[in-house]
Amino acid sequence: MAATNGKAYTIIDHTYDVVVVGAGGAGLRATLGCAEAGLKTACVTKVFPTRSHTVAAQGGVAASLGNMGPDNWRWHMYDTVKGSDWLGDQDSIEYLCRHAPAAVYELEHYGVPFSRTEDGRIYQRPFGGMTTEFGEGPPAQRTCAAADRTGHAMLHTLYGQSLRYSAEFFIEYFALDLMMDSEGACRGLVAMSIEDGTIHRFRAKRTILATGGFGRAYFSCTSAHTCTGDGGAMVLRAGLPLQDMEFVQFHPTGIYGAGVLITEGARGEGGYLTNSEGERFMERYAPSAKDLASRDVVSRSMTMEIRDGRGVGPEGDHIYLHLDHLDPKILAERLPGITENAKVFAGVDLRRQPIPVIPTVHYNMGGIPTNYHGEVVTLKDGNPDHVVPGLMAIGEAACVSVHGANRLGSNSLIDLVVFGRAAGLRCAEVVEPGSHQDLPSDASEAAIARLDRFRFATGGTPTAELRLKMQKVMQSNCAVFRDGPVLAEGVDLINEIWKGSEDVRVSDRSLVWNSDLIETLEYDNLISQAAVTVTGASNRTESRGAHAREDYPDRNDAEWMKHTLAWADCAGRAITLDYRPVHTYTMTNEMHYIEPKARVY
Ligand code: SIN
Repeated sequence: MAATNGKAYTIIDHTYDVVVVGAGGAGLRATLGCAEAGLKTACVTKVFPTRSHTVAAQGGVAASLGNMGPDNWRWHMYDTVKGSDWLGDQDSIEYLCRHAPAAVYELEHYGVPFSRTEDGRIYQRPFGGMTTEFGEGPPAQRTCAAADRTGHAMLHTLYGQSLRYSAEFFIEYFALDLMMDSEGACRGLVAMSIEDGTIHRFRAKRTILATGGFGRAYFSCTSAHTCTGDGGAMVLRAGLPLQDMEFVQFHPTGIYGAGVLITEGARGEGGYLTNSEGERFMERYAPSAKDLASRDVVSRSMTMEIRDGRGVGPEGDHIYLHLDHLDPKILAERLPGITENAKVFAGVDLRRQPIPVIPTVHYNMGGIPTNYHGEVVTLKDGNPDHVVPGLMAIGEAACVSVHGANRLGSNSLIDLVVFGRAAGLRCAEVVEPGSHQDLPSDASEAAIARLDRFRFATGGTPTAELRLKMQKVMQSNCAVFRDGPVLAEGVDLINEIWKGSEDVRVSDRSLVWNSDLIETLEYDNLISQAAVTVTGASNRTESRGAHAREDYPDRNDAEWMKHTLAWADCAGRAITLDYRPVHTYTMTNEMHYIEPKARVY
């Protein structure tokens, strides 16, 4: 028992070889891999596994299977490097693209109900930025789809598979903090059971963070309410940096007003965008790829149309996506989910009417820096690739970096399974099952002190008010287009809100399903990452991928082809920045380094 503020917490200790935090696609694939390798594995998750945000991924998972025409992992690699605007690490991108086909066949064998071609192969649709012949050939049909519910199908299958092995699930447990030792090694995790407030210390040889992105730092996003970047914030509190956080992806087609995703697969199946003049404007911005240019390009083009007075709707502030010309049979077979979503969230029958859409925050390219084994790296004693002992990260929480400055659609689902698998393989290689593990006696003190600080907070500002202010500032000051003064104002405003967190008020003091407390812990996780994001954006004086500066419209490789590293002093509320070099080399000599060039579609 630990007594704080006159209240006692029951502390329960656990010992595992590996603890995985998060049960989305990456977390489940890593859990499965570790357990299959005979490692004693725990998976700690704040939601039931099949409610993790991977369930919302729609359009598909990229892999060069070549089922619909010629394809090749090297073409996939070229597209991903170009999509990343040359900020991606080419060794990691090679790892991703060459392992993608095997990862998809593995999913097929696990039981993912992929849509099929006439001859029974996995159906693949075109997605933005995916081409053939190193960008010289026609668009690639590379995105393997289970109708428009691919993430849902993958998540349910992976959860079922992970139950085949003896992994133990701690469901509805909220991760509070990492347990770091005095040498800077991670020794496990402190979590709280949401159900009864008991504190659990998971001692583990490896802690794998698979906690997803922090989309909820923004007002309008396709991310679930649970996407609060809990792993990234724990890393910051452990004194480690996050990488490239200024790169935030806006998906071109969030439903106007609701923010709900309409898959890029809709344009892959032939959908197109129009402005108030009925013009298919993408032909002007991306003459070759048109509506299937990469997401940053399409989102910027839509924003320019709206700014130039050609937006649709009474306030001229959105764009139309048309699917009304497509065969209703195709819509029913390949896009049933968005047909329903358009009806429920926009009141639109997409067989007859266009869908009102707007670029909406969707994905964080930045995150916890790792190598392609999933090991967390940091800058130490001049070494930019120093491995942090005991700590790993995968999925959207991580920055491998395969997506660089802009992720291509359908490359996130493949990232989850390829690097979830890689992390499992690494653990199997380096962790000795059942080996003894020490735990410092004060391992959970800081985590419990933080918990108590919020649980007994008596300030005057409710969490919801602070959160809304943060979301509105991020939405307006760190948006699709950015410029110096607006970003500088964003830095000041976010710092003000962060400092204002001292005045937070939590009304519920209980330990049983205290959503007031959990939301406050989540808000605290978000605000440090919002600060890192807007500070990094203000600092990066160039345009690259999703980071479009109006005052610095060009990419500047000479000065800025480097990763931003950001540390947060969460007590002092201050951000420090430094850099890591981009890996300008491949993993093997089976593929050459792809030289930077102008990025046109
Ligand atoms: C989509 O279907 O457009 C979302 C999937 C992704 O972000 O890769």
